[in-house]
Amino acid sequence: MPERSGKWKAAGRRLLQAAAAALAVLVLWALAALGNGGGGTHSPAPHSGEIPDGSRKVVRPDDGIIRVGLTMDTLQEERWIKDMELLGQAVGALGAEYLAMTADSDDAKQLEQAETLIAMGVDVLVIVPHDAEAMATVVNKAHAAGIKVLSYDRLVRNADVDLYVSFDSERVGELMAESITKRVPAGKYVYIGGPETDYNAHLVKKGVYNVLQPYIDRGEITVVFDQWTPDWMPAIARDNMRIALEKNDGRIDAVIAGNDGTAGGAIEALADWGLAGTVPVAGQDAELAAAQRIVQGTQTMTVYKPIRQLAEVAAELAVMMAKGETPRADRFVNNGKIDVPSVLLTPIAVDASNIDDTIIADGFHSREDVYQFVEP
Ligand code: GAL
Repeated sequence: MPERSGKWKAAGRRLLQAAAAALAVLVLWALAALGNGGGGTHSPAPHSGEIPDGSRKVVRPDDGIIRVGLTMDTLQEERWIKDMELLGQAVGALGAEYLAMTADSDDAKQLEQAETLIAMGVDVLVIVPHDAEAMATVVNKAHAAGIKVLSYDRLVRNADVDLYVSFDSERVGELMAESITKRVPAGKYVYIGGPETDYNAHLVKKGVYNVLQPYIDRGEITVVFDQWTPDWMPAIARDNMRIALEKNDGRIDAVIAGNDGTAGGAIEALADWGLAGTVPVAGQDAELAAAQRIVQGTQTMTVYKPIRQLAEVAAELAVMMAKGETPRADRFVNNGKIDVPSVLLTPIAVDASNIDDTIIADGFHSREDVYQFVEP
């Protein structure tokens, strides 16, 4: 790839890091604001005391302010920075306070942070789990302290989660595969999945195969490579794509990747073989880099999930739960233990033909940013 693209990538990374640093300040501010009063109109029942397993003392400030705590897996992907910020804005707009922490893809850290938020007496705990199973224990701890739990975007498995708010991840997978099979109805496919520890990765994969299976059964499509990608790491996706290309002498007809980060990794490997822009590639998240690749022609499509909508619905329902109200749920999603009341929003397929009318029209990215590498 030209040197220019490396430079831009580095600039993008720096921007992301700056945004993450700004967020850390925001979070510190939220922590500092704790106990300063303001905003809240409702007095939730106090739930001070020991968590029954004796882990931490819960101190519930008796000031009538509703507090929403978030433990976020990671800020590795651009989207989570938006999620963290927009959820904070939405919670604030409802007069509640927001405490947010990021666990850097570390289960022990996420557990510790969740316990801290519980001990600080949040009224609702919002979890974006790094490991779907590992966070079950947090749900039990929160409940023992009288705190409701909202699973945000990713489902916590095998626990009594109170509410799940997300996009329909199975539909995400279907949109990817529908878009690619339309272009490549027969041939050799590579599937670069997300991590096994993220239940969304399973749902996306299910959606992808809902669409591919009839083609596979008819002998029209062969999936020649199908791998999970630990922690959604683009470098692992790139290495797996290299293996797939080597094993097949570069004869790959289409690639479906779990998200835009892994799609980017796969496209790097395709570029090494001179195949970027020739082999269709799908991703999800509508990251800026992916949007740029779409208008440049190296990525075929992405799945756009309007984060503001997710954050606003989650904030509204979290505050309702804090007030002891039962939030509305469209459906139930089984998490291995219970049918979790769920609200699943609709994802949108985006390719070069509708990028202007979707992510640009919504202001998700500016036109200028998306087309910055395309000659006018
Ligand atoms: C998934 C999420 C995707 C993507 C990925 C990597 O759970 O649904 O949108 O961001 O995680 O963090």
